[in-house]
Amino acid sequence: MNDNFLNALQRTNANRYVPVWLLRQAGRYLPEYRKIRAKNEDFFAMIKKPEVCCELTLQPLRRFKLDAAITFTDILTIPDALGLEVEFVKNKGPVFKKSFLQNKSLRLDQTNFLDRLDYVFQATNLIKSNIDLPLIGFCGSPWTIFTYMFYGESPKNFAIIKDYIRENIESTEETLDLLTQLSIVYLKEQAKYGADCLQIFDSWGGILGDDYVKYSLKYINEIRKELPQNIPIILYSRGQKVIEFLKDSDVKIFNFDSSEKLEKYIDLPLTVQGNLDPKVFNNSDQKLISLAEDIYLKFSQKNNYICNLGSGLTPDINPEKVGTFLNHLRFLNSQ
Ligand code: CP3
Repeated sequence: MNDNFLNALQRTNANRYVPVWLLRQAGRYLPEYRKIRAKNEDFFAMIKKPEVCCELTLQPLRRFKLDAAITFTDILTIPDALGLEVEFVKNKGPVFKKSFLQNKSLRLDQTNFLDRLDYVFQATNLIKSNIDLPLIGFCGSPWTIFTYMFYGESPKNFAIIKDYIRENIESTEETLDLLTQLSIVYLKEQAKYGADCLQIFDSWGGILGDDYVKYSLKYINEIRKELPQNIPIILYSRGQKVIEFLKDSDVKIFNFDSSEKLEKYIDLPLTVQGNLDPKVFNNSDQKLISLAEDIYLKFSQKNNYICNLGSGLTPDINPEKVGTFLNHLRFLNSQ
């Protein structure tokens, strides 16, 4: 197996090799994804088919030389399993039939929780048997999942949830505790079925500002504590300045968004991943080649760097441009 990625996670990558994978490396920017997506009206019905998840995971690996695969699924599998019925509305994103905003005493149905997520574990197992790369499993952070369950859609007016949590501290903490326990069993099961590494997406951590540790990081630390220490966990916390909570974090591997300078962290006892703005792929081929060269020069002698983006590849990106960048990085890595 190509273990450059796993070595970098352990800060032992001594290979003069820059491991790379990309957030949302599978998805709508790929014509082969859109072809399969067109045959499936409902996104969740599609991801409940393990063979389809496997195929979608493999698509970018056929096009590009990447150092890790990520299970094709979604962070909203947990609310779906709890009975919140998620739908994806075009140009709007996820929409839930029920939410805490509409119904404060919304019941979360935990019966057969792991059975309802069996499709994720079957997909994990199938993907793992089809690749010779490390596989990344994932979930949303308890706070980010709570945010979706609260609004019933992607949040816009952040003040509403902030007022709510202050007025309902006890029930908020109870829900966050529950989501933490469910995330722990969900991630453990993904690891059991073949995930070599896990990423926690705290996409709405940025809403919290000074309350970040209290309502989000505390629960992520709990997940870290309950998972076997030999399984790496990466934290992606969008919109939070990592430096401000470094001392409070039990997770030591970070996927940076595009707002911070990753270089500030490279010489600390951490692993650093991400940071590139996906808009770089709008540049000329020449620029993309020099970007790959800059990255190789800066980071190939570091043992704790993983090349990746600060947010996911978007549907407008031309996969040929992604290929130009990745091919050049591959060329440099193989010298
Ligand atoms: O290669 C991969 O990374 C694909 C696997 C993946 C998906 N979602 C598939 C998907 C991953 C890692 C995610 C994570 C995810 N999902 C996050 C965290 C990362 C981030 O972007 O902050 C979040 C917040 C979600 C929730 C979600 N799922 C939203 C907001 C949407 C709507 C549109 C979008 O793409 O953002 C989805 C749907 C979704 N999940 C799609 C894909 C490929 C698009 C669905 C479609 O084809 O219509």
